[in-house]
Amino acid sequence: DMDKFITNLMSKMTLEEKIGQLNLVSVGFDVTGPIVSENVEEKIKKGLVGGVFNTFTPVAVRKLQEMAVQNTRLKIPLLFGYDVIHGHRTIFPIPLGLSASWDLATIEKSARIAADEASADGLNWVFSPMVDIARDPRWGRIAEGAGEDTWYGSRVAEAMVRGYQGGDLALNNTVMACVKHFALYGGALAGRDYNPVDMSERSMLQDYLPPYRAAVDAGVATVMTSFNDINGIPAAANSWLINDLLRKQWGFRGMVVSDYTSLTELVAHGVSANEYEAAADALKAGNDMDMVGEVYLNNLGKLTQDKKIVVTQIDAACRRILEAKYKLGLFDDPYRYADEQRAKQTLMKNEYREAARDVARKSIVLLKNNNNALPLKPGASVALVGPLARSQRDMIGNWSGAGDWQQAVSVDQGLKNSQGHLQINYAKGANITDDPVLIQRLNTHGGNLEIDQRSSEAMISEAVEAAKKSDVVIAVVGESQGMTGEASSRADISLPGKQLDLLKALKNTGKPLVIVLMNGRPLTLPWEQANADAIVETWFLGTEAGNAIADVLLGTYNPSGKLTATFPQHVGQVPLFYNHKTTGRPYGGEMLDKYKSRYLDVSNDPLYPFGHGLSYTTFSYGDVKLSKNEITTQDKLTVTCQVKNTGTRAGEEVVQLYVQDVVGSVTRPVKELKGFQKIMLQPGESKEVTFTLTQQDLSFYRRDMTFGTEPGKFNVFIGGNSKDGQRASFELK
Ligand code: IFM
Repeated sequence: DMDKFITNLMSKMTLEEKIGQLNLVSVGFDVTGPIVSENVEEKIKKGLVGGVFNTFTPVAVRKLQEMAVQNTRLKIPLLFGYDVIHGHRTIFPIPLGLSASWDLATIEKSARIAADEASADGLNWVFSPMVDIARDPRWGRIAEGAGEDTWYGSRVAEAMVRGYQGGDLALNNTVMACVKHFALYGGALAGRDYNPVDMSERSMLQDYLPPYRAAVDAGVATVMTSFNDINGIPAAANSWLINDLLRKQWGFRGMVVSDYTSLTELVAHGVSANEYEAAADALKAGNDMDMVGEVYLNNLGKLTQDKKIVVTQIDAACRRILEAKYKLGLFDDPYRYADEQRAKQTLMKNEYREAARDVARKSIVLLKNNNNALPLKPGASVALVGPLARSQRDMIGNWSGAGDWQQAVSVDQGLKNSQGHLQINYAKGANITDDPVLIQRLNTHGGNLEIDQRSSEAMISEAVEAAKKSDVVIAVVGESQGMTGEASSRADISLPGKQLDLLKALKNTGKPLVIVLMNGRPLTLPWEQANADAIVETWFLGTEAGNAIADVLLGTYNPSGKLTATFPQHVGQVPLFYNHKTTGRPYGGEMLDKYKSRYLDVSNDPLYPFGHGLSYTTFSYGDVKLSKNEITTQDKLTVTCQVKNTGTRAGEEVVQLYVQDVVGSVTRPVKELKGFQKIMLQPGESKEVTFTLTQQDLSFYRRDMTFGTEPGKFNVFIGGNSKDGQRASFELK
């Protein structure tokens, strides 16, 4: 039916109309590149636009859709896309935080709610999930993904696609997902955004590509190519990547869209001499839709005349875009997502705010808690200090375009809303940064940084006075949301500005020091780890941030999140990730051992390993038991472990399973995550946790690049993080 319909429609289309379908224009405010689309209304009426992004609300969408449907010859409706990244109106934690929940059902639910809101608000396409594996916290966009692990990132990718698309794009409360940024964008050299990626084929296949593949296998409708080049060929013009890998090998049938002006940027990359060539290069590589650049619109006609491209290539791209519209039901009813009544009933409804609070507290990671500094005692007097303590803007984080930060709950407000009856002595204590150029840059792009003009000495001494009057200090410090995300790489990933000076002065008061962190990347926190009594990682938690943080600080919710990205001790260790290789000279920690793979000035250990996160209770792990000590390639292996709550309150634990292939035809990681379970245990309760390992879990890209297992010894580890784990071994015959 769809094929017939589209073949019939395309038989009536002129070449110009087909090229128009490949044009994606931005109408609105969220500009992330130097160019904004021009004369959009005129172009829509002429049939020169296939889709629009950065516009939402039923009224605005209806208006543009009418232009397309009422004014064009063939009445082809537009797609409406938007960067719905971690919620649409109701904002959830930034994706790095969300991933720290290790709760796939919760992650899926957040995407489902985002889709319900987005589709009620005129949209039918979201530019999410971002599944770029990131091992370098200098890269600002580490905030937008699920961290460093390939296996876990793949599970999150699937959950997000399921949540957005709901298994049926024909429903009016589902939207097309767009997996991005294809590919390897997180591998940018030196953690600098848009930088080249130079990577071995093995590392690509083994470490970086599986999450995109997982999204494709989960049925993702669209794919966005990335800004970066891959071993010399920019993604948007990379035929190996799009035509061969994505389409032929992975069987992807949906449409591929470029990133913002990245076809234009083929000229800056120096692979296309001009936009005329860029259009040909990208189309031949398999990139269907051109975001903002209008390189296709301006050149494909001439390229066809000049016989530099064949019309069948334009046809194929156009067909995939029309198919997307067909699957969404837009040909039946172009206005099906523009229902004002539904918008009123859906956007930010109470149920969704409650869900956002639940997701937010599940995403919090307790990094340290000495002598039960947390939870706070009810009725305590608290010095609430720090530049983020009263911030609302930062709570909803980056890429929260439709979110209203004025509806976000600050930490101060969250504590006041709680039943803790705290006496709060507030002082700001420090600005996030005092660098005038950075402040201006952030505020130009919606940073809303409020800068206190007093001297830092005056601000710190006010905070010290507040501390002296209080039982405990809560310092809410970190990055501003605009210091993370796109085009926000940092070379120094410690606390910016005078915040560390503030913490040191607070420490000197002798009062217990609780640090509440907000940040979009792993930070280097050696002083903080050594000196704080408790550290709570809260990322940017979304609309309900303050309430969720209060739940954890007061202990009405027992924290259960675990890190999905390694926190290094020092930025010079970067990239530091748990699933590294041994090297020929592994460093065992001996001070005087010089000729080992190590630094002279810092150990190889992380500050906090991947998978780390504490609870207000404690857990112990029994021995790892295997169903067999020897298996064949036909067998599955059952792995069990007894986990016990050894503390005094109920709590959840993320039980993690790692595997190591001890000897391979190529060097193998010291361990790799292959499973996890989040379990709830009452005080004193034990549960046996069971995992099944399959051949797939033991497979890798072998010396000849085939994917499969090799016989030999394997170690299995089960524990509460990637560093500490009980071990058992088996032999694959
Ligand atoms: O979806 C984004 C992408 O992640 C970065 N460049 C702009 C796109 C659309 O806003």
